[in-house]
Amino acid sequence: MPSGTRWLATERALRRLVVPCVAIIFAAGAASGGDDTTRTSSVFAPVSAPADAAYTAAMLVLAITAGIAVVVGGLLAYSIVAFRHRPDDDGSEPAQVYGSEQIELAWTVIPILIVVVLCLVTARTVYDVQGATKPPGAVDVTVVGHQWWWDIRYPDLGIVTANELHVPVSDPARPTPTFLRLESADVAHSFWVPRLAGKTDVIPNRHNRMWIEPRETGLFLGQCAEYCGTQHAHMLLRVYVHPRAEFDRWVAAQQKPAVADATAVAGRRVFETTACINCHTVRGTVATGRFGPDLTHLMSRDTLVAGAARMTPESLHAWIAAPDQVKPGSLMPAMQLGDRELEQLVGYLTTLR
Ligand code: CUA
Repeated sequence: MPSGTRWLATERALRRLVVPCVAIIFAAGAASGGDDTTRTSSVFAPVSAPADAAYTAAMLVLAITAGIAVVVGGLLAYSIVAFRHRPDDDGSEPAQVYGSEQIELAWTVIPILIVVVLCLVTARTVYDVQGATKPPGAVDVTVVGHQWWWDIRYPDLGIVTANELHVPVSDPARPTPTFLRLESADVAHSFWVPRLAGKTDVIPNRHNRMWIEPRETGLFLGQCAEYCGTQHAHMLLRVYVHPRAEFDRWVAAQQKPAVADATAVAGRRVFETTACINCHTVRGTVATGRFGPDLTHLMSRDTLVAGAARMTPESLHAWIAAPDQVKPGSLMPAMQLGDRELEQLVGYLTTLR
């Protein structure tokens, strides 16, 4: 192949490689135009004590391994260039070196020291995170993983919600971390909100524990991080970190019983006379099911279907009419309601503020 043609072929191959990469980068930028998707979930932007500890350890490991990559890669590149084949080579073997104690000691002892440092740093971080004691101001929450949503319970406050965890921001002078007890109702899941803490597995017949101590208010996104079935990717988590007074207001609102709106009596009758009540709870009514999310304050949540849809009357309507269309494989059955009953039911649910 003439060199001009070869270059053209190489250039075409490069374009084929580079153009899609650039397109993906720009597409990612465009996709992050929405309100939630602009939020970073990067482990490199920690805002909570356990995530800080993991970040510090990770940066040290990255720095050491980057150093090793530079030294090894540099020596390799130097050898490739300096000792390349030359036209005037006489083809004889280079001088062979055997049994250098200094060199062998160096390449044995230095890696051992590096591994020991990495082990000690990791062990210390794990010990600090897992051995943390619960201060008096801590909030206790039990999180139960289900296929495919999160049941969130505040046993001391008498609150039950789903998929959206609300916690107070922690002031270093008066720490108010949140301690989570993790349980599973079915298969293995994993609780992960990258900016707040590392992953913790959620295992059936076992209680795992973890904690978060956010120092910034705001919304932090996470998701189930262990493949748990068809809708694993739609098992999202939202953590709302509030200033203390705002958190107390949220608690007070959630503690109230469900609104009994006189205009939604027909819809409430539909709800209470179908199988909805076998799986869902609305506090203060005959609905006491625990298989699905608690609906007492359904409309106080921003999302529906474990974060897969915005909470709007339209998305509620679509979800109840055909759950399998919104979330294929979902364990919520279609109740086969008539149009009028469905309208009334959605009307009732939207009063549950
Ligand atoms: Cu739950 Cu993946």
